[in-house]
Amino acid sequence: MKNQSKHLIIGASGQIGSVLTAALRHLYGASAVVASDIKTPTMALLDQGPFESIDATDFDQLLTIVKTHKIDTVYLMAAMLSANAEKRPEKAWDLNMSSLFHVLNLAKLGHIKHVFWPSSIAVFGPSSPKFKVPQQTIMEPTTVYGISKLAGERWCDYYHKNYGVDVRSLRFPGLISWQSLPGGGTTDYAVDIFHKAIASETFECFLSENTALPMMYMDDAIRAILELMNANVNSIKIRSSYNLSAVSFTPKELYHSIKKFHPSFEIRYAPDFRQAIADSWPDSIDDSFAQKEWGWRPNFDLDALVKDMFVHL
Ligand code: SER
Repeated sequence: MKNQSKHLIIGASGQIGSVLTAALRHLYGASAVVASDIKTPTMALLDQGPFESIDATDFDQLLTIVKTHKIDTVYLMAAMLSANAEKRPEKAWDLNMSSLFHVLNLAKLGHIKHVFWPSSIAVFGPSSPKFKVPQQTIMEPTTVYGISKLAGERWCDYYHKNYGVDVRSLRFPGLISWQSLPGGGTTDYAVDIFHKAIASETFECFLSENTALPMMYMDDAIRAILELMNANVNSIKIRSSYNLSAVSFTPKELYHSIKKFHPSFEIRYAPDFRQAIADSWPDSIDDSFAQKEWGWRPNFDLDALVKDMFVHL
């Protein structure tokens, strides 16, 4: 990104958006980064720099904010996650797809120049390979969230090929952060568990002990976004979304890693409807295209991220 770029984060109150907003402000200065969300912002977010209330499904609102602030780069982080989306399928489809269309159309019409949009491991389904799932493979997602992300990926590729839109995307695994809480996803347990350990409470896990899922520490995720957005345009060959990998673990493995810091911590397993969602997703990801094309390397393995969580929480 050029230094004079102006950035808009849609969904700046969310798990990724809040950390991304702070990271971009640190890099480019507070006034170069406009935070926006439909939710009332925290005082911390308001204090950091400009904030706009926004409904991501309203094109005119988006256009007004883009024009007012002379935005050239948009990070569309607003979405309904996997577990919540199963409860409100049509609402999830509407939010996840119409917000993406609006942002892609802002770029197509020349109002903005660059777009970041996160996809997810949820684009894979039960018929995809379980281990080291490759970039290109069978993709038959069984969740509303996964269907919306896979459709979104195809639209990103389409807008790039047909209208020259500079859209870049990553298929995020479950994200673990101390700065922010996830909301309504299937991988949320891997953040909640830390808060229970610190409160010395027993953790009731909604996934079974041996459910392996791809995961990533938030520091790695934010660095991945910044590296992808700053990569030379010629090195970005994939305009749907890149596989991205850091670490894979089960609830039991995470529990044992946490127990090194909190020896009396206890866990109980009570799988619910989210177990079926987790079972439909891969255990691990092959991200060799991201490694080759723009040099992706994760920094945090399981023990490193657990240690860092306890340093900060
Ligand atoms: N973390 C997301 C979820 O669980 C996956 O992208 O829905």
